[in-house]
Amino acid sequence: MNNSAQNCQAFDLVIKNVQLITLDKEHNKVPYGLLEDAAIAVTDGVIQWLGKSADLPDHPCKNVVDGEGQFLSPGLIDCHTHLVFAGSRAAEFEQRLNGMSYKEIAEQGGGILSTVKATREASFHELLKLAEQRAKTLMREGVTCIEIKSGYGLNTETEIKMLEVATALEQSLPIDIRRTFLGAHAVPPEFKGDSDGYIDYLINDTLPKVHELGLADAVDGFCENIGFSREQMARLFAEAKKIGLPVKLHAEQLSDSGGTALVADLDGLSADHLEYLSKKDCKRLSHSVTIPVLLPGAFHTLSETQLPPVDLLREYNVPMAIGSDYNPGSSPLCSLKLMMNMACTLFKLTPEEALLGVTKHAAMALGLDKVGELKVGYQANFCLWDIQHPAELSYTYGVNPLTRLWIRGQTCFL
Ligand code: NIG
Ligand code: FE
Repeated sequence: MNNSAQNCQAFDLVIKNVQLITLDKEHNKVPYGLLEDAAIAVTDGVIQWLGKSADLPDHPCKNVVDGEGQFLSPGLIDCHTHLVFAGSRAAEFEQRLNGMSYKEIAEQGGGILSTVKATREASFHELLKLAEQRAKTLMREGVTCIEIKSGYGLNTETEIKMLEVATALEQSLPIDIRRTFLGAHAVPPEFKGDSDGYIDYLINDTLPKVHELGLADAVDGFCENIGFSREQMARLFAEAKKIGLPVKLHAEQLSDSGGTALVADLDGLSADHLEYLSKKDCKRLSHSVTIPVLLPGAFHTLSETQLPPVDLLREYNVPMAIGSDYNPGSSPLCSLKLMMNMACTLFKLTPEEALLGVTKHAAMALGLDKVGELKVGYQANFCLWDIQHPAELSYTYGVNPLTRLWIRGQTCFL
């Protein structure tokens, strides 16, 4: 019995006459796992078959799409965003261009805390409406899964409100959302000068309530001299581990604070930013399941000059993911495609590494399987691109080559 006949008698969707960017290891002999003159078939939102057009099984299917020779890739995954927030930080952008640093602004009560004030004041519905607009903007360029962090509440009530907005987004849009609890993003005004006391509050009040309500898929923090120390993060992570939540960390963004080693030792999902990552800790990453997530949007916006150690990560064979870090302060750039371009132009990733960074490796950074590649048994999340070569996805910006988007085999109209 051949592969096609085993699984089903009919297909819900067939896309034929496409170049498949599978990113599948089996096709790794060719760049991008490219399969030319191909077709792909879906049943119940899952890929049932893919291969050369000539070999397409002759099953009945009411929905046959002619891809007209275009390229079909897995849906893109934005594995690091702060998509739920209110207010604007345009004035700070101006302050920075007048010579003030991100750190100085934060120390004077601006930065993250100014977004905290606006987010606390905003209603659930205001936040949801803003988040919907932003998620749709990402989706129009092919994003089918978004990670969203809390962290602009910094009290139990508002952290819960943010995570509830992220949860509601999955109901209002046909998109997969992963929710991350980022209570340890900054010290709120109520705990000024008492960051240890704030960590206690997160451990004893916020995290247990968030968990009880089932609102978080992971726990994150900002391990930095203007955030929390490695020891403070270790305390919070110990509680996360106790309740079975995976951890991840904003690490080595502004200095080498040892956050990556902490999260790698705990086999956390990801260590994110990493401009100041040392050789020793690159090696540590290679011995863990933790995925480095590069965030070129923040690097660019903060006019950072210290580059993440991409060559070392390659040398140690560590898969690199890329996120937008979409947020109002350090990365007000709501485009994962722009991040692919910047990962290439600023961090010197190859276009193939950039695409892997927003698909297969982004899935790994979120602990997700069955997404991020075109493979039998994987979720039918597809982008159809009107391009001449897969590298064009990183090469151009400002033109949107996405012609169609499917999530779980359903067409998305955006
Ligand atoms: O990922 N580093 C901390 N968090 C965000 C910035 C958030 C903000 O400035 O509002 C980041 O860059
Ligand atoms: Fe971030």
